[in-house]
Amino acid sequence: MACSRAMVAIVGLVIAGLLFPAASSSMRPDQLITMTTDGQYHSTHPVVTIADGLTADYHDVSCPDLRGIVRTAVVEALQGDITIAADLLRMFFHDCFPQGCDASILLLGTPWSEMRMPPNLSLDKRRKVAFLMEDIRAKVHKACGPTVSCADIMALATHDAVVASGGKPYHVPLGRLDSSQPAPRRFVEQLPPPTFSIDQLIGAFSSRSLDEKDLVVLSGAHTIGKARCATFSDRFTSADSGDFVRRLQDNCTTDVNRRQDLDVTTPEKFDNKYYINLKEGKGVLTSDVQLLLNESTRAYVNDFADNEWWFWNQFGTSMSKMGMLQGPQGNVGRIRRHCY
Ligand code: HEM
Repeated sequence: MACSRAMVAIVGLVIAGLLFPAASSSMRPDQLITMTTDGQYHSTHPVVTIADGLTADYHDVSCPDLRGIVRTAVVEALQGDITIAADLLRMFFHDCFPQGCDASILLLGTPWSEMRMPPNLSLDKRRKVAFLMEDIRAKVHKACGPTVSCADIMALATHDAVVASGGKPYHVPLGRLDSSQPAPRRFVEQLPPPTFSIDQLIGAFSSRSLDEKDLVVLSGAHTIGKARCATFSDRFTSADSGDFVRRLQDNCTTDVNRRQDLDVTTPEKFDNKYYINLKEGKGVLTSDVQLLLNESTRAYVNDFADNEWWFWNQFGTSMSKMGMLQGPQGNVGRIRRHCY
């Protein structure tokens, strides 16, 4: 048994290295943001910044039915498959982080598509999500003409998926343009891997103008969804792992393809149990558990565990902020006539 556990851990670490290259390699020197061996990001130019000029009422005149069309389609899709909510939420993060929220992640058709890059290979329902976004775009453009970007549709759909899972409504600034090209691989590979330490996580988020509170509250997205054993098998190598980690490891030994709930208490509900679990030693990913190892991030974990309303409120604020990330050229692009 001990031997098969070690095998699971080793195989997991190899797979994790392939899936999350930022964990195992330094970034190339031609990048604007570089990561040094201490895991800190050093930015010579702000690559991704918070945009201004987006407003919640951007489409109110040109497309008054927009929100209703998106909400109806998302609710219908989730009735067929609730797991789409988690994939959509994760995809929104993976779209925004590399070069701003420009729906570049939905561009499936090219060999250099972001979906073919390591951090995104595990987005299980990625095609389903891309097809859903295209389906909604077709409905919206039919009703209003080509006035709304796939990026805005994705931001609204993500909001609706959070609300449908039990979260609270938040402000969704609109007016984004779509990218014509996938993000460069070197930016996609800056998505933080699950093996990052707290200092590395703080550094990764601050390279995108996101602070420690944003890091802790956005990690609360792990109140829904699942993770494959390979993404947390680094935890099995620690000699002092407790009962919870041993249980995770036993489950993975029995079934290496297992997908483990990230919130072990209420996996399909968008609530604050993720933080309560963390405090009870039941965090799944290393990056989740690391949130307890810094004074400031630990204080936020405690706040959100103690007060669900505060979590919902701050989650909405940080989602709006992340949703306004834009690349070095600013909010440039076009309204795509096809989302993927
Ligand atoms: C703090 C840094 C983060 C790291 C290191 C991280 C890492 C991961 C990993 C490794 C998984 C499991 C993937 C798999 O097994 O295929 C996952 C799942 C997930 N992540 Fe994160 N994540 C982070 C932040 C975020 C943020 C900011 C969001 C959204 C706001 C998010 C939303 C999700 C969701 C919803 C899932 C479940 C996906 C599903 O069930 O299909 N994560 N994350």
